[in-house]
Amino acid sequence: MTYPTPRRRVVLLGATGSIGRQACDVIARFPDRFELVGAVAGRDAAALDAIARRFGVARTALVHPDPSAVPHVGCATGIDAACEIAAMDADVVCVAITGAAAIRPTLAAIDAGVTVASATKEVLVMAGDLVKARAAASGARIITIDSEHSALWQCLRGEDPASVSRLVLTASGGPFLRRPLDTFASITPAEAMAHPTWNMGTKITIDSATMMNKGLEIIEAHFLFDVPYASIDVAIQPTSIIHSWVEFRDGAVIAQLGVPDMRVPIALALADGERLPGVGPRLDLRDASPLEVLALDGNRFPAIGLARAAGERGGLAPCVFNAANEEAVAAFTSGQCRFDEIVSLVGAALGAFDDGDASTLERVLDADAWARGFVRANTAGAVPAR
Ligand SMILES: NC(=O)c1ccc[n+]([C@@H]2O[C@H](COP(=O)([O-])OP(=O)(O)OC[C@H]3O[C@@H](n4cnc5c(N)ncnc54)[C@H](OP(=O)(O)O)[C@@H]3O)[C@@H](O)[C@H]2O)c1
Repeated sequence: MTYPTPRRRVVLLGATGSIGRQACDVIARFPDRFELVGAVAGRDAAALDAIARRFGVARTALVHPDPSAVPHVGCATGIDAACEIAAMDADVVCVAITGAAAIRPTLAAIDAGVTVASATKEVLVMAGDLVKARAAASGARIITIDSEHSALWQCLRGEDPASVSRLVLTASGGPFLRRPLDTFASITPAEAMAHPTWNMGTKITIDSATMMNKGLEIIEAHFLFDVPYASIDVAIQPTSIIHSWVEFRDGAVIAQLGVPDMRVPIALALADGERLPGVGPRLDLRDASPLEVLALDGNRFPAIGLARAAGERGGLAPCVFNAANEEAVAAFTSGQCRFDEIVSLVGAALGAFDDGDASTLERVLDADAWARGFVRANTAGAVPAR
């Protein structure tokens, strides 16, 4: 089949995950607009093979192939291969690898000057200044796929940054918005995975239950929109219809609303801000009302205060916040710690960490490794010296 206009060449990192699969849906839905030219996954050889065959992808890589699985012919392996694909000739690299593991391929794409459409908030959190400096040097643009930040981006388009008084990120409140606080210690991974409005990968779903996800998003918003932490707030909107809003100095408020569906921000980012037809379900506000909006309860969700403190502290503190959280989530899902210990472990890691500047990738990766070691030691033994 031939297509009338040049298609945007897309590289997809984390192709086999929740965002990756939805990005594939968008690409398949608009074959005249997008061409998948590269795809990277973690270890799921069968799923990556299916994507490669479905889209005729030129280059694929598995970062950590399962030794028992046989990658398809031509599939490369390892992080260097993933970085080469991230830096290949493309119009946009969609980043959807969970967590800090995305940093090297993201930087490879940025250094190559390619536009990065990123769902992976953890990369900006762990190394926001570094990522932005490298993007400024290469001319790469960073477009967000995170639904709240996509909402803010949409509200801010065409506005004078000086006229913004506050960004408000919305949160559903997750599965424990109303659960008695004295039962938090007994929360199981299965209960934490039961998100009321979004169907997502494991790590972000647990982060949504602790509200660490919103904490990460405060730091992400700070780096994406150059707004001070004091001007970034969080509100609870249990049905996830209001994706976030911006308050302006004249008293105007602009919000972005929609049925929760990640294909909308994915398509908007892949199409470089163009609205493609019929991507998500239609929203009739009369069906969605009343739209309940609540204040955040900081006692119920201490993750928000902790994130804010880490962000304000700056340097490597957000990196430690992120890495300690990733490790604590892994400990919780594998039965090594309780649900209510996730945030405490991150707080303890931040308390034990000596500040440092985050100007090089090596320093960032050292702090990341230290925080992981701290959490592992505190879920299974002594604290490592720094
Ligand atoms: N899901 C959502 O609705 C949503 C919304 C907003 C933001 N986000 C963000 O998007 C990112 C992805 O979330 P998700 O829900 O799509 O996660 P997910 O379903 O767990 O998928 C993660 C993807 O990353 C790959 N991966 C995992 N570890 C890797 C590693 N060490 N090296 C290379 N690839 C690796 C996985 O590959 P294999 O499966 O092959 O191992 C998979 O393709 C997260 O940062 C999340 O916060 C997600």
